[in-house]
Amino acid sequence: MSTVKLAVIYYSATGTVDAMARHAAEAGEKAGAEVRLRQVARQATGGEREATEAQAAHAEVAPATEAASADDVVWADAVLFGSPTRYGNIAGQLKTFLDSLGPQWGQGLLADKVYAGFTASQTLHGGQESTLLALYNTIHHFGGIIVAPGYTDPLKFVDGNPYGASHVTGANNDEPLGDADIDALRHLASRVVTVSERLAS
Ligand SMILES: Cc1cc2nc3c(=O)[nH]c(=O)nc-3n(C[C@H](O)[C@H](O)[C@H](O)COP(=O)(O)O)c2cc1C
Repeated sequence: MSTVKLAVIYYSATGTVDAMARHAAEAGEKAGAEVRLRQVARQATGGEREATEAQAAHAEVAPATEAASADDVVWADAVLFGSPTRYGNIAGQLKTFLDSLGPQWGQGLLADKVYAGFTASQTLHGGQESTLLALYNTIHHFGGIIVAPGYTDPLKFVDGNPYGASHVTGANNDEPLGDADIDALRHLASRVVTVSERLAS
C-alpha cells in the first residue's frame, strides 16, 4: 500500500492556528503519512490583533514554514485546512488561496481527496462551527470527501466539536492549547490518514 500524502495548509495571524497545524502534521506523520506543512502568506489586513509577547516569541522560534501552493493540494491524498475564525468564517487569506485554485478545480484535480478542517476563535460560541461549515462549502465544490471527526472516539466528547478540531484563545487571545485540543487534532489527522488508506485500497 502506498504512503498517504497529507497536506496541512493553514493561515495564522497570531500563532494559534500555526501551533495547531504543527500538532496535526506531527500526528499525520505518526499515522504513517508523508506530510507537507504549508502556510498561506501572512498578509496583514489592518484589522488583525497585535501579537502578544508570547505569540511574537513563538513566531520567532517556529521554523519558517514553506508557503502553500496549488501543487500541495494537487499532490495530496488528504488535506487539512486550518484558519482562525473571522466573523464566523474562514480568514480572507485562506479564502484567497482557495480561490486561486480555480484552474486546478477546472481540471478536476481537487476531487476525490479527503478533506477536513480546524480553527481557533477568541470566544466559545464565536463561530467555530460556522467557520468549519463555511470551509466545507468550498470542499463540496471541489468534489472532495469531507471526513468529519464526528464522535468517533470518546475524546470527541471532551473537545465537543464533531465538525473538526478547534481551540478558544480567550479574552487576551493567548490561551495555550490544552490536552483536549491536542487530542482532537491528533485524532483528526490520524483519522483522515486512515480513511485515505482505506480509499486507496
Ligand atoms: C477580523 C477578525 C475577526 C474575528 N472574528 C472572530 C469571531 O467571529 N469570533 C471569535 O470568537 N473570534 C474572532 N476573532 C478572533 C480570532 O478568531 C482569534 O484571534 C484567532 O483564532 C487567533 O488565531 P491565530 O493566532 O492563528 O491568528 C476575530 C479576529 C479578527 C482579527
